[in-house]
Amino acid sequence: MSRLIAPSILAADFARLGEEIDMINRSDADWFHIDVMDGVFVPNISFGFPVMDAVYKRATKPLDVHLMIVDPDRYVSQFAKAGAHVITVHYEACTHLHRTVQAIQAEGVKAGVSLNPHTPVSALEDIIADLDLVLIMSVNPGYGGQKFIENTYDKVARLKTLITEKKSKAVIEIDGGVNASNAARLYESGADVLVAGNAVFAAEDPEAAITAIKGEK
Ligand code: DX5
Ligand code: ZN
Repeated sequence: MSRLIAPSILAADFARLGEEIDMINRSDADWFHIDVMDGVFVPNISFGFPVMDAVYKRATKPLDVHLMIVDPDRYVSQFAKAGAHVITVHYEACTHLHRTVQAIQAEGVKAGVSLNPHTPVSALEDIIADLDLVLIMSVNPGYGGQKFIENTYDKVARLKTLITEKKSKAVIEIDGGVNASNAARLYESGADVLVAGNAVFAAEDPEAAITAIKGEK
């Protein structure tokens, strides 16, 4: 079990993106979380390749790309070439999820699948053995700064059981409303990677906030 943290640059100050990236490089953070939103799968539009390219050029840690877009197959290859270490697609956005997962892995990139708050863990029964990562949304996707959904703890535990049963290598990532108060319980429930946006970038001392969310080393 690992205890990783992936700050979400969606909450960064884009006018100072270079400095924000340097801060994450210096900090105890493990990955950069990149939220791509298309205004169709989710109500909001975030950013695309120009920002992804800028982050890749300056980042010294892996890029964890979270695609909140319909029909993500169209962009798998382009995100792989843009430097993604993990590409996570939404269960709810893929008609042929197994094919999408294979396409990601064929690019030499780790494949993740994300579940919206209403989607049960059991939906992954027949694909979990093929996955590198499962991202449980602990808010409805689309915006940073929302309130953490408490059902997530149980959901993580159920996912952990499924992963063990199916002998999957998938790591568990949690996204939405994560902060220093719920992080320890999430790690204890079985989470391996925590995404944090506002809890990091809105903090007075973002580097200290990252260390606090990660807890004891
Ligand atoms: C929400 C995004 C999250 C978001 C998290 O749709 O997927 O990654 O940036 O932000 P916080 O931590 O502020 O909830
Ligand atoms: Zn995300």
